[in-house]
Amino acid sequence: MSEIIKTENLQYAYPVEDGQLAVPVLKGVSLSIRRGEFVAVLGHNGSGKSTLAGCFNAIRLPTGGVCYVDMMDTRKEENTYEVRKTVSMVFQNPDNQLVATVVEEDVAFALENMGVPPAEIRKRVDDALRAVGMYDYRKQAPHRLSGGQKQRVAIAGVIAMMPRCVVLDEPTAMLDPQGRREVMAVVRELNKQYGITVILITHHMDEAVQAGRVVVMHQGNVLMDGAPREIFTQVEALREASLTVPQTIEVLYDLDREDGETLPIDALSVTECADILEKQYLN
Ligand SMILES: Nc1ncnc2c1ncn2[C@@H]1O[C@H](COP(=O)(O)OP(=O)(O)OP(=O)(O)O)[C@@H](O)[C@H]1O
Ligand SMILES: [Mg+2]
Repeated sequence: MSEIIKTENLQYAYPVEDGQLAVPVLKGVSLSIRRGEFVAVLGHNGSGKSTLAGCFNAIRLPTGGVCYVDMMDTRKEENTYEVRKTVSMVFQNPDNQLVATVVEEDVAFALENMGVPPAEIRKRVDDALRAVGMYDYRKQAPHRLSGGQKQRVAIAGVIAMMPRCVVLDEPTAMLDPQGRREVMAVVRELNKQYGITVILITHHMDEAVQAGRVVVMHQGNVLMDGAPREIFTQVEALREASLTVPQTIEVLYDLDREDGETLPIDALSVTECADILEKQYLN
């Protein structure tokens, strides 16, 4: 099986107090993610993205259906350790993820807990810090770093554990534009350079276009699943799911409707958008 994650009719309902009815927030998600894919997950607030992510590393266990990680059924307790080693998570707030007072100790933290030999820890920590461009900061205190730098240290901690899959739940939500660019560069690198399967939950369309595949969640189900170009040209359907489209597509789409002309609207980058406009209006 080439899938690293496979869900079949996955359902999840949060536990409720006695007498109340549990309302499922995942309502039957069937999704296959192959090794080495870079998948962006989009969806309006409350659509179930974080809950789904929680299922991928057994923080949440299905209340219906099944979730396999590298063929391991996450419901089986004997699989939990391996599932969590296979799928690592990165969250929104870097401050909640950094635990040590020195950058390199932070990156080493989980490895020490896993009982990795010291010489190997040294090598993995240095490699991971180099991979995210934070090696020169290894002796510094994390609290003195920028948001983007902190998030990159958190990602280094994940790389050092050599997971096969990384799930990032809105990793740039608290960052400024510079920090967002830094983190996205590292995310792409994780996938391209290290071959790690990347699942990126985001509200930023310009980040989602960088993925190879986009999954749109809506009210606990998968609404759309396809290549970015395929998904983002469905402007009406996305708007119905309370989502926007990348600005490049929005500009063309609105022009298209105003003019009643037939512009191609599938521009995923500013360059593509400019080319389309030039062809249409300057020639
Ligand atoms: N710990 C919890 N207990 C009870 N209900 C929860 C809990 N966490 C989330 N929910 C509910 O589950 C639904 C899905 O939430 P989830 O956090 O998975 O959505 P999301 O797509 O990640 O949203 P956001 O974009 O705001 O992060 C929401 O209705 C939310 O209120
Ligand atoms: Mg969320």
